[in-house]
Amino acid sequence: MKITVITPDNNNAQSWSEILHSEPAFEVTTIDRSLRQVKLELLGNNPDMLLVETTSPEDFIALESFASAHPEIDYVLVGADLSQAFLLRAMRAGVREVLPAPASPEVVLTTLRRQLRKRSVNPGATQQRGEILAVLSCKGGSGATFVAANLAHLLTLNGARRVALIDLNLQFGDAAFFVTTEIPTSNVADVAHNIARLDTELLRSSMTHAAKGLWVLAAPDDPAQVADVTPDHVRQIVRMASKMFDYVVIDVGRALTAVTLQALDLADRVYPVLQLTLPFIRDAKRLSGVFRSLDYGPQKIHWLVNRYEKSSQFTIDDLKKALAIDHVLTLPNHYEAVAASVNQGVPVQVIAPRSTIAHALRELAKEIAPAPAGAGRGWLRRVFGSKQPTVKGLS
Ligand SMILES: Nc1ncnc2c1ncn2[C@@H]1O[C@H](COP(=O)(O)OP(=O)(O)OP(=O)(O)O)[C@@H](O)[C@H]1O
Ligand SMILES: [Mg+2]
Repeated sequence: MKITVITPDNNNAQSWSEILHSEPAFEVTTIDRSLRQVKLELLGNNPDMLLVETTSPEDFIALESFASAHPEIDYVLVGADLSQAFLLRAMRAGVREVLPAPASPEVVLTTLRRQLRKRSVNPGATQQRGEILAVLSCKGGSGATFVAANLAHLLTLNGARRVALIDLNLQFGDAAFFVTTEIPTSNVADVAHNIARLDTELLRSSMTHAAKGLWVLAAPDDPAQVADVTPDHVRQIVRMASKMFDYVVIDVGRALTAVTLQALDLADRVYPVLQLTLPFIRDAKRLSGVFRSLDYGPQKIHWLVNRYEKSSQFTIDDLKKALAIDHVLTLPNHYEAVAASVNQGVPVQVIAPRSTIAHALRELAKEIAPAPAGAGRGWLRRVFGSKQPTVKGLS
């Protein structure tokens, strides 16, 4: 594990790096300056973890913007301010653990060893690859983009986890607009044009920061750019994203093309979205034939009925019989909450957290990635004890 130690305190720089050098699994670089004086070039050696001591509010602001620009790095923070507000901000910035200053070399070593262990046992940790989820529309207008975008938002656990939303609906993709009002300045076709120099920095800077923990790689503006993106580009982009993020959610759209099939192949789980009406069920049957021919088993395919209403003419049992499956997920119909969310470009969890649709999406996110999050929660519990702050709407 490559560790970069950044502290303005010369004594700490020396004693921490001395003790960390005693651990053969660590490759240590030390910078004895405060973070705000450090240039981004330090990432030349691509550290896996930064051990940062912040001694002023300006340093901490520098850490927040640094962490937002580099979600692929894990952060351990040493700071004197242990107020609840400070710790929450640290958690939201993606800090894995906060150590009270002054931190002895022994405490630093134990903490970083613990982080090393976590990275090797937790498949969600960035050292391992993040899970890849593909959301696919059985037919236009099923709600696949709404589901993909809001699931991605909820999987961040309010910023405690890092999630990428990638829009592969190359002709008419609109996923970014479901979670942010920011206009994307770059998109998947731009990354494809620069694929020869693809690295974490290029990918991150091509994404739109939509919310705490959520980055979106938007679809091209121009439908003609569809031809610029090949399956090989998609493979490289998705693999790179899965190294940087805990979850990668792909809006596959409704077309089955070489590009979207590549995304489905890479996915750990595929969520085909449909509604309980005959045209959708017909296309779902066709799709299930495609999945069979691709050898996608039931662990991979998770059928999802959106806009579900009990009064519907077709029942879930009808669908199970038609597709010869045992399990179907459902999300309720909720016109007002969803319309407000999509019209304003604000996740439904933010705009209508008490709605039945927000509740059902939270349950789905929990099933995919059970809380508590790996990130941050352990040290928060230790620091706050029973007064641990809850993640809004998810506890
Ligand atoms: N659970 C829901 N309750 C009410 N309305 C919903 C629900 N889910 C989606 N919608 C509505 O359905 C419309 C279509 O949703 P969305 O754009 O996500 O579908 P899609 O499958 O991505 O469509 P496309 O094939 O065009 O990409 C949205 O305008 C949204 O308002
Ligand atoms: Mg869509």
